[in-house]
Amino acid sequence: MEKAVDERNRLNDLSNKQWLRETKSFWMSKAPPRDELKRQHPATFSEYDIERLLRLFTKPGQTVLDPFVGVGSTLIACLRTGRRAIGIELVPRWHEIAQQRLAAESGDGIPEQISLLHGDASAELAEMESESIDFVVTSPPYWSILNKASEKVGAERTSRGLPTNYSDDGQNLGNIEDYGEFLTKLGEIFGQCTRVLRSRQYMAVIVSDFRHGPRYYLYHADLAREIEQRGMVLKGVTALLQDSKNLYAYGIPYAFVPNIHHQQIIILQKPESA
Ligand SMILES: C[S@@+](CC[C@H](N)C(=O)[O-])C[C@H]1O[C@@H](n2cnc3c(N)ncnc32)[C@H](O)[C@@H]1O
Repeated sequence: MEKAVDERNRLNDLSNKQWLRETKSFWMSKAPPRDELKRQHPATFSEYDIERLLRLFTKPGQTVLDPFVGVGSTLIACLRTGRRAIGIELVPRWHEIAQQRLAAESGDGIPEQISLLHGDASAELAEMESESIDFVVTSPPYWSILNKASEKVGAERTSRGLPTNYSDDGQNLGNIEDYGEFLTKLGEIFGQCTRVLRSRQYMAVIVSDFRHGPRYYLYHADLAREIEQRGMVLKGVTALLQDSKNLYAYGIPYAFVPNIHHQQIIILQKPESA
Protein backbone atom coordinates (compact mmCIF):
# COMPACT_ATOMS: atom_id res chain seq x y z
CA MET A 1 0.00 0.00 0.00
CA GLU A 2 1.20 3.54 -0.85
CA LYS A 3 2.15 5.70 2.14
CA ALA A 4 -0.08 8.63 3.08
CA VAL A 5 0.81 12.22 2.19
CA ASP A 6 4.03 13.38 3.85
CA GLU A 7 3.12 15.95 6.52
CA ARG A 8 5.79 18.32 5.13
CA ASN A 9 4.10 18.32 1.71
CA ARG A 10 2.44 21.72 1.08
CA LEU A 11 2.11 21.25 -2.69
CA ASN A 12 -0.14 18.27 -3.42
CA ASP A 13 -1.89 15.23 -2.00
CA LEU A 14 0.44 12.64 -3.58
CA SER A 15 2.49 10.21 -1.57
CA ASN A 16 6.25 10.67 -2.03
CA LYS A 17 6.30 7.58 -4.27
CA GLN A 18 3.48 8.92 -6.48
CA TRP A 19 5.23 12.30 -6.68
CA LEU A 20 8.50 10.63 -7.70
CA ARG A 21 6.84 9.04 -10.75
CA GLU A 22 5.67 12.46 -11.97
CA THR A 23 9.21 13.88 -11.99
CA LYS A 24 10.16 11.81 -15.05
CA SER A 25 11.05 14.26 -17.88
CA PHE A 26 8.58 12.67 -20.30
CA TRP A 27 4.93 11.72 -19.96
CA MET A 28 2.85 9.70 -22.41
CA SER A 29 -0.12 11.88 -23.30
CA LYS A 30 -3.42 10.14 -22.66
CA ALA A 31 -6.38 11.64 -24.50
CA PRO A 32 -10.06 10.80 -24.08
CA PRO A 33 -12.07 10.52 -27.32
CA ARG A 34 -13.08 14.04 -28.44
CA ASP A 35 -16.83 14.62 -28.60
CA GLU A 36 -18.51 16.63 -31.38
CA LEU A 37 -18.34 19.88 -29.40
CA LYS A 38 -14.66 19.58 -28.50
CA ARG A 39 -13.76 18.64 -32.07
CA GLN A 40 -14.97 22.05 -33.33
CA HIS A 41 -11.90 23.70 -31.79
CA PRO A 42 -8.67 23.30 -33.82
CA ALA A 43 -6.19 23.02 -30.91
CA THR A 44 -7.39 21.47 -27.67
CA PHE A 45 -5.46 19.55 -25.02
CA SER A 46 -6.37 16.43 -23.07
CA GLU A 47 -8.36 16.67 -19.83
CA TYR A 48 -6.50 13.56 -18.56
CA ASP A 49 -3.09 15.25 -18.95
CA ILE A 50 -4.41 18.34 -17.15
CA GLU A 51 -5.88 16.24 -14.32
CA ARG A 52 -2.41 14.76 -13.83
CA LEU A 53 -0.87 18.25 -13.64
CA LEU A 54 -3.57 19.37 -11.19
CA ARG A 55 -2.82 16.42 -8.89
CA LEU A 56 0.89 17.25 -9.01
CA PHE A 57 0.72 21.01 -8.53
CA THR A 58 -2.36 21.60 -6.36
CA LYS A 59 -4.40 20.28 -3.47
CA PRO A 60 -8.20 19.84 -3.73
CA GLY A 61 -10.11 23.11 -3.24
CA GLN A 62 -7.30 25.32 -4.56
CA THR A 63 -7.85 27.81 -7.40
CA VAL A 64 -6.54 27.25 -10.91
CA LEU A 65 -6.34 29.80 -13.76
CA ASP A 66 -6.33 29.16 -17.52
CA PRO A 67 -6.12 32.50 -19.41
CA PHE A 68 -6.61 30.81 -22.82
CA VAL A 69 -9.31 28.32 -21.92
CA GLY A 70 -10.67 27.52 -25.41
CA VAL A 71 -13.54 25.05 -25.11
CA GLY A 72 -12.97 24.57 -21.39
CA SER A 73 -10.80 21.42 -21.05
CA THR A 74 -8.99 22.83 -17.98
CA LEU A 75 -12.30 23.68 -16.30
CA ILE A 76 -13.61 20.16 -16.85
CA ALA A 77 -10.41 18.69 -15.40
CA CYS A 78 -10.82 21.00 -12.36
CA LEU A 79 -14.41 19.90 -11.90
CA ARG A 80 -13.37 16.24 -11.98
CA THR A 81 -10.60 16.73 -9.43
CA GLY A 82 -12.40 19.10 -7.04
CA ARG A 83 -10.38 22.24 -7.82
CA ARG A 84 -11.84 25.74 -8.16
CA ALA A 85 -11.12 27.38 -11.53
CA ILE A 86 -11.14 30.57 -13.57
CA GLY A 87 -11.01 30.36 -17.37
CA ILE A 88 -10.79 33.21 -19.89
CA GLU A 89 -11.66 32.92 -23.60
CA LEU A 90 -11.85 35.68 -26.20
CA VAL A 91 -13.80 34.01 -29.01
CA PRO A 92 -17.60 33.84 -28.42
CA ARG A 93 -17.93 30.50 -30.22
CA TRP A 94 -15.34 28.75 -28.00
CA HIS A 95 -16.68 30.43 -24.87
CA GLU A 96 -20.16 29.16 -25.65
CA ILE A 97 -18.94 25.63 -26.35
CA ALA A 98 -17.02 25.70 -23.04
CA GLN A 99 -20.28 26.64 -21.29
CA GLN A 100 -22.11 23.77 -22.97
CA ARG A 101 -19.39 21.25 -22.17
CA LEU A 102 -19.29 22.33 -18.52
CA ALA A 103 -23.05 22.12 -18.19
CA ALA A 104 -23.00 18.62 -19.73
CA GLU A 105 -20.19 17.54 -17.39
CA SER A 106 -21.87 18.81 -14.23
CA GLY A 107 -25.39 17.82 -15.32
CA ASP A 108 -26.64 20.99 -13.63
CA GLY A 109 -25.39 24.19 -15.33
CA ILE A 110 -22.07 25.81 -14.47
CA PRO A 111 -21.06 24.94 -10.89
CA GLU A 112 -20.29 27.82 -8.51
CA GLN A 113 -16.62 26.82 -8.10
CA ILE A 114 -16.00 27.43 -11.83
CA SER A 115 -15.82 30.90 -13.33
CA LEU A 116 -15.80 31.15 -17.13
CA LEU A 117 -15.01 34.67 -18.33
CA HIS A 118 -15.59 35.94 -21.84
CA GLY A 119 -13.06 38.54 -22.98
CA ASP A 120 -9.46 39.43 -23.71
CA ALA A 121 -7.07 37.75 -21.27
CA SER A 122 -5.10 40.94 -20.73
CA ALA A 123 -8.20 42.99 -19.81
CA GLU A 124 -9.69 40.26 -17.59
CA LEU A 125 -6.40 39.63 -15.75
CA ALA A 126 -6.07 43.35 -15.02
CA GLU A 127 -9.25 43.04 -12.91
CA MET A 128 -7.97 40.11 -10.85
CA GLU A 129 -6.52 40.34 -7.38
CA SER A 130 -2.75 39.84 -6.90
CA GLU A 131 -1.64 36.54 -5.28
CA SER A 132 -5.12 34.97 -5.58
CA ILE A 133 -4.29 31.92 -7.75
CA ASP A 134 -2.63 28.64 -6.72
CA PHE A 135 -1.74 27.26 -10.16
CA VAL A 136 -1.73 28.52 -13.75
CA VAL A 137 -2.12 25.90 -16.46
CA THR A 138 -2.72 26.76 -20.09
CA SER A 139 -1.91 26.32 -23.72
CA PRO A 140 -1.61 29.65 -25.60
CA PRO A 141 -1.84 30.12 -29.38
CA TYR A 142 1.26 28.91 -31.24
CA TRP A 143 1.94 32.22 -32.98
CA SER A 144 -0.23 32.45 -36.15
CA ILE A 145 0.75 28.94 -37.16
CA LEU A 146 -2.85 27.76 -37.60
CA ASN A 147 -3.31 30.41 -40.30
CA LYS A 148 -0.19 29.03 -42.01
CA ALA A 149 -0.84 25.30 -41.41
CA SER A 150 0.03 22.87 -44.15
CA GLU A 151 -2.69 22.46 -46.75
CA LYS A 152 -2.82 18.73 -45.99
CA VAL A 153 -3.75 19.23 -42.31
CA GLY A 154 -6.09 22.17 -43.07
CA ALA A 155 -7.85 20.31 -45.87
CA GLU A 156 -8.79 17.43 -43.55
CA ARG A 157 -10.66 19.77 -41.17
CA THR A 158 -12.18 21.82 -44.00
CA SER A 159 -13.53 18.65 -45.63
CA ARG A 160 -15.31 17.85 -42.33
CA GLY A 161 -16.73 21.40 -42.12
CA LEU A 162 -14.52 22.28 -39.11
CA PRO A 163 -12.72 25.62 -38.53
CA THR A 164 -8.96 25.67 -39.10
CA ASN A 165 -8.15 28.69 -36.90
CA TYR A 166 -9.47 30.34 -33.69
CA SER A 167 -11.04 33.48 -35.22
CA ASP A 168 -10.10 36.33 -37.55
CA ASP A 169 -10.16 39.23 -35.08
CA GLY A 170 -7.08 41.31 -34.24
CA GLN A 171 -7.20 40.79 -30.45
CA ASN A 172 -6.66 37.08 -30.97
CA LEU A 173 -2.96 36.44 -30.34
CA GLY A 174 -3.12 33.70 -32.97
CA ASN A 175 -3.45 36.42 -35.63
CA ILE A 176 -0.28 38.41 -34.87
CA GLU A 177 1.96 38.11 -37.93
CA ASP A 178 5.34 39.08 -36.46
CA TYR A 179 6.89 36.35 -34.24
CA GLY A 180 8.79 38.84 -32.02
CA GLU A 181 5.70 40.99 -31.48
CA PHE A 182 3.65 37.87 -30.73
CA LEU A 183 6.15 36.70 -28.09
CA THR A 184 6.19 40.12 -26.41
CA LYS A 185 2.38 40.36 -26.23
CA LEU A 186 2.11 36.80 -24.92
CA GLY A 187 4.91 37.48 -22.43
CA GLU A 188 2.95 40.46 -21.10
CA ILE A 189 -0.07 38.25 -20.45
CA PHE A 190 2.11 35.76 -18.59
CA GLY A 191 3.50 38.72 -16.62
CA GLN A 192 -0.07 39.41 -15.47
CA CYS A 193 -0.51 35.72 -14.64
CA THR A 194 2.64 35.98 -12.49
CA ARG A 195 1.15 38.89 -10.56
CA VAL A 196 -2.06 36.97 -9.72
CA LEU A 197 -0.20 33.76 -8.79
CA ARG A 198 0.71 33.22 -5.14
CA SER A 199 4.43 33.15 -4.30
CA ARG A 200 6.07 29.70 -4.42
CA GLN A 201 3.24 28.36 -6.61
CA TYR A 202 3.69 26.95 -10.13
CA MET A 203 2.76 27.64 -13.74
CA ALA A 204 2.59 24.91 -16.43
CA VAL A 205 2.44 26.04 -20.06
CA ILE A 206 1.85 23.43 -22.74
CA VAL A 207 3.20 24.25 -26.19
CA SER A 208 4.73 22.56 -29.18
CA ASP A 209 7.69 23.69 -31.25
CA PHE A 210 6.78 24.16 -34.90
CA ARG A 211 8.10 24.46 -38.42
CA HIS A 212 7.43 27.39 -40.69
CA GLY A 213 8.95 27.79 -44.14
CA PRO A 214 12.53 26.53 -44.06
CA ARG A 215 12.89 26.95 -40.26
CA TYR A 216 12.21 25.03 -37.07
CA TYR A 217 11.10 27.31 -34.21
CA LEU A 218 12.11 26.46 -30.63
CA TYR A 219 8.88 28.02 -29.42
CA HIS A 220 8.97 26.40 -25.97
CA ALA A 221 12.43 27.87 -25.29
CA ASP A 222 11.53 31.32 -26.68
CA LEU A 223 8.39 31.44 -24.56
CA ALA A 224 10.11 30.14 -21.41
CA ARG A 225 12.63 32.99 -21.74
CA GLU A 226 9.83 35.57 -22.14
CA ILE A 227 8.06 34.31 -19.03
CA GLU A 228 11.28 34.21 -16.99
CA GLN A 229 11.86 37.88 -17.87
CA ARG A 230 8.59 38.60 -16.06
CA GLY A 231 9.72 37.18 -12.73
CA MET A 232 9.06 33.43 -12.90
CA VAL A 233 11.86 30.86 -12.50
CA LEU A 234 12.11 27.98 -14.98
CA LYS A 235 12.09 24.68 -13.07
CA GLY A 236 11.86 22.07 -15.82
CA VAL A 237 10.42 20.98 -19.14
CA THR A 238 8.46 17.74 -19.44
CA ALA A 239 8.01 16.27 -22.92
CA LEU A 240 4.43 15.16 -23.52
CA LEU A 241 4.60 12.35 -26.05
CA GLN A 242 1.74 11.94 -28.54
CA ASP A 243 2.19 8.54 -30.11
CA SER A 244 -1.08 8.24 -32.03
CA LYS A 245 -0.90 11.16 -34.48
CA ASN A 246 -0.89 10.68 -38.27
CA LEU A 247 2.55 10.57 -39.90
CA TYR A 248 2.95 12.72 -43.03
CA ALA A 249 5.72 12.12 -45.61
CA TYR A 250 6.44 15.86 -45.82
CA GLY A 251 9.95 15.99 -47.29
CA ILE A 252 10.49 12.41 -48.43
CA PRO A 253 12.44 11.57 -50.63
CA TYR A 254 14.15 14.97 -50.82
CA ALA A 255 14.71 16.38 -47.35
CA PHE A 256 14.43 15.79 -43.61
CA VAL A 257 11.19 17.30 -42.25
CA PRO A 258 10.13 16.10 -38.78
CA ASN A 259 6.66 15.03 -37.74
CA ILE A 260 6.40 16.82 -34.38
CA HIS A 261 4.63 14.30 -32.16
CA HIS A 262 5.29 15.74 -28.75
CA GLN A 263 4.52 18.87 -26.81
CA GLN A 264 6.53 20.53 -24.04
CA ILE A 265 5.17 21.33 -20.62
CA ILE A 266 7.17 24.35 -19.45
CA ILE A 267 7.13 24.39 -15.64
CA LEU A 268 7.94 27.61 -13.78
CA GLN A 269 7.68 28.73 -10.16
CA LYS A 270 7.03 32.16 -8.69
CA PRO A 271 9.81 33.02 -6.23
CA GLU A 272 9.06 34.50 -2.81
CA SER A 273 10.29 37.95 -3.84
CA ALA A 274 8.60 38.42 -7.27
C1 LIG B 1 -4.46 26.52 -27.85
S1 LIG B 1 -6.06 27.20 -27.63
C2 LIG B 1 -6.53 26.60 -26.04
C3 LIG B 1 -7.42 25.37 -26.11
C4 LIG B 1 -7.78 24.80 -24.74
N1 LIG B 1 -6.60 24.30 -24.05
C5 LIG B 1 -8.80 23.67 -24.89
O1 LIG B 1 -8.47 22.48 -24.65
O2 LIG B 1 -9.93 23.98 -25.31
C6 LIG B 1 -5.74 28.91 -27.33
C7 LIG B 1 -7.01 29.76 -27.13
O3 LIG B 1 -6.62 31.10 -26.79
C8 LIG B 1 -7.65 31.95 -27.29
N2 LIG B 1 -7.13 33.33 -27.33
C9 LIG B 1 -6.32 33.91 -28.23
N3 LIG B 1 -6.07 35.21 -27.93
C10 LIG B 1 -6.72 35.45 -26.76
C11 LIG B 1 -6.82 36.59 -25.92
N4 LIG B 1 -6.22 37.75 -26.22
N5 LIG B 1 -7.56 36.48 -24.79
C12 LIG B 1 -8.18 35.31 -24.45
N6 LIG B 1 -8.14 34.19 -25.23
C13 LIG B 1 -7.41 34.26 -26.37
C14 LIG B 1 -7.97 31.36 -28.66
O4 LIG B 1 -9.21 31.81 -29.14
C15 LIG B 1 -7.91 29.86 -28.35
O5 LIG B 1 -9.18 29.33 -28.06
